[in-house]
Amino acid sequence: MRHFLTLRDYSADEILEIIELSIDIKTKLKNGTLDKSLKDKTLAMIFEKSSTRTRVSFETGIYQLGGHGLFLSSRDIHLGKGEPIKDTARVISSMCDMIMIRTYQHSTIEEFAAYSKVSVINGLTDSFHPVQLLADYMTLVEHNHTKNLQVAYIGDGNNMAHSWMMLCAKLGFTLHIATPEGYEPDQQIVTEAKELALQSGAVIEFFSNPRDAVRNSTVVTTDTWTSMGQESERDERIRSFAGYMIDAQMMSLADDDALFLHCLPAYRGLEVSDEVLEGAQSVVFDEAENRLHVQKGLMVWLNSKT
Ligand code: CP
Ligand code: NVA
Repeated sequence: MRHFLTLRDYSADEILEIIELSIDIKTKLKNGTLDKSLKDKTLAMIFEKSSTRTRVSFETGIYQLGGHGLFLSSRDIHLGKGEPIKDTARVISSMCDMIMIRTYQHSTIEEFAAYSKVSVINGLTDSFHPVQLLADYMTLVEHNHTKNLQVAYIGDGNNMAHSWMMLCAKLGFTLHIATPEGYEPDQQIVTEAKELALQSGAVIEFFSNPRDAVRNSTVVTTDTWTSMGQESERDERIRSFAGYMIDAQMMSLADDDALFLHCLPAYRGLEVSDEVLEGAQSVVFDEAENRLHVQKGLMVWLNSKT
């Protein structure tokens, strides 16, 4: 039985296998030949934060595979409030076949997984968003855009930055990260990613000027400057991130064929201009749709390991 908590626990071959399986599942869904391979399986989905894509894609995905999704918000269950996480984990995992969790501290999902009898999938923590990165890479594969890959991540050193570092360290491409002072990625995750990068040949470089990070990149990506849970810091963050918007001028420094990715939700006029988000280089809606397909691939893959 495997959990999917961060890409740290997955080899490059496993990541690519899940993506290949997902592309096959997408084709089969579109031509009406998808097997109900998770028939009668229940996926519990615990959300301690809001979500559009993660909820809709997991719930629709398990349904398309013949199973059932059970939506549990933090208002409905006692996760860590009144009932210890280890008790909730043992109870839910004795009744369901897989569990997806979106929560705050990464240690919550680790503790939950340690006590769960079934696979636990990270649907976002403050530290990582690995299912998003599967969808991002799948989108690049579909757009034939993985050769000489150089990704520029511009913005907050948050869960998305950490997840890009892990994907890069595993798959061995080049990643440029530019963050304002005080918003750098977690140093422990940087050290870990750099150690992993030594094995894969990945290059992870940090820049203080976003324009230098973007130059000649084949993919440009960003994320909200104010993640869920940081709402009270919004005004201060907008001031600190001045000059970090991905606009047409910033995009023009990248490779002519560069693609723009964003996990969404996007805040136009802050981390990205409307022109870039809606422009010809943006593949953000393919990326969002691929959440549906890649998480089905992941669920089928995890099920095959039980
Ligand atoms: N990208 C992403 O995870 O979106 P949601 O917050 O809408 O799930
Ligand atoms: N960094 C963002 C990602 C949202 C999908 C957040 O954690 O809110």
